[in-house]
Amino acid sequence: MRSIFKEKNLNYKKILLRLDLNVPIENGEISDTTRIDKILPTLKFLIQQKTKIIIISHVGRPKGKIIKDLSLKPISEDLKKKLNANVKLITENIYQIENKDFFERFNEEVLILENIRFYAEEEKNDHKFAEHLASFGDIYVNDAFSCSHRAHASIQQISKYLPSYSGLQFDLEVAALNKITAEIEKPITCIIGGSKISTKIDVIKNLIPKLDNIIIVGGMANNFIEYFGNNIGKSIKEKNCNEIVAEIISLSKKKECKLIYPDDVLVSKNLNGLSINKEINQILPDDMILDIGPKTIKKIVDIIDNTKTILWNGPAGYFENPNFANGSIKIAKKIIENNKSNKIFSVVGGGDTVSLLNNLKIVSNFNFVSTAGGAFLEYLEGKQLPGITALN
Ligand code: 3PG
Repeated sequence: MRSIFKEKNLNYKKILLRLDLNVPIENGEISDTTRIDKILPTLKFLIQQKTKIIIISHVGRPKGKIIKDLSLKPISEDLKKKLNANVKLITENIYQIENKDFFERFNEEVLILENIRFYAEEEKNDHKFAEHLASFGDIYVNDAFSCSHRAHASIQQISKYLPSYSGLQFDLEVAALNKITAEIEKPITCIIGGSKISTKIDVIKNLIPKLDNIIIVGGMANNFIEYFGNNIGKSIKEKNCNEIVAEIISLSKKKECKLIYPDDVLVSKNLNGLSINKEINQILPDDMILDIGPKTIKKIVDIIDNTKTILWNGPAGYFENPNFANGSIKIAKKIIENNKSNKIFSVVGGGDTVSLLNNLKIVSNFNFVSTAGGAFLEYLEGKQLPGITALN
């Protein structure tokens, strides 16, 4: 893998820079800018080197359709302020643009292509689409480690058509994760949240043999609660997942990895409501499970006390409403406490989890914080990531 930071003579080269600017946007406002802030050093370096930058990124999952709310407009405005440079969002259809348009017709210092997932070809890893994208620049740089588990056109296929490099944030993530995997100390506990169990099934299955404890929280815990015969009312759950849950349970038994899911929870009648603590067999048909309860928190805290390495991906509850942030806060506080006394090595990953820690202003208290979610877990489980393979 060649790093763009080691390259000389970049003057006036057109750089196609793949970033992960997939930040949370609500009503046109970015609620957490961590991913933007982290790539500023790369952008500043490329500006200093007098390169011409064309940014490629996605936001959300528009699935090949133009969705106004998933435009990169708020991001391009944020970048403009932070870089104090002329930044232009190119909204034209990219099939109507050619190489000579860049930095002539579009004359700004930094150009950003509109959400690349507005084109279905991106997720199909379409080679013609990648070739067309590649025709815009002289060099390709991937500074989107957090997307590198996706075999998508602007991550994998594109590198076939241009000299390809890694960016600074990418190098830092890979170096830190290599250190962690080489020096990892047992017992190892993984706390895993999020709503879609099917997107994490492979990761969970591959991690179980390496772990001593796996703690399931967040929306996906509802699938476990229901599997064990409890009513989950109106709570979110992914449909048709019983087989997956059964597989996880049986594998964790076989590999002697302790599986923990909530014993008690906080519920409400809606997302904005107050919290009521309930045992998992007391949930009513109109209840929504929105956080873990005190008994479960105590159980998790005890496990953290007997852990040497903790990997955390996914908040424990609906922390956007402070009434349901307690589970995540207690987990974070316990990890920080043990971290301060050097009892634990803590690794946190995932956009939502990082947002939560940022809101609490405690993000610097962990040994390593990765802005990557899926890519972080897949790397830790030892998988080859298409985005890394492409650079090699
Ligand atoms: C992420 O947020 O982990 C990356 O941007 C990848 O997004 P995806 O899970 O929609 O591919």
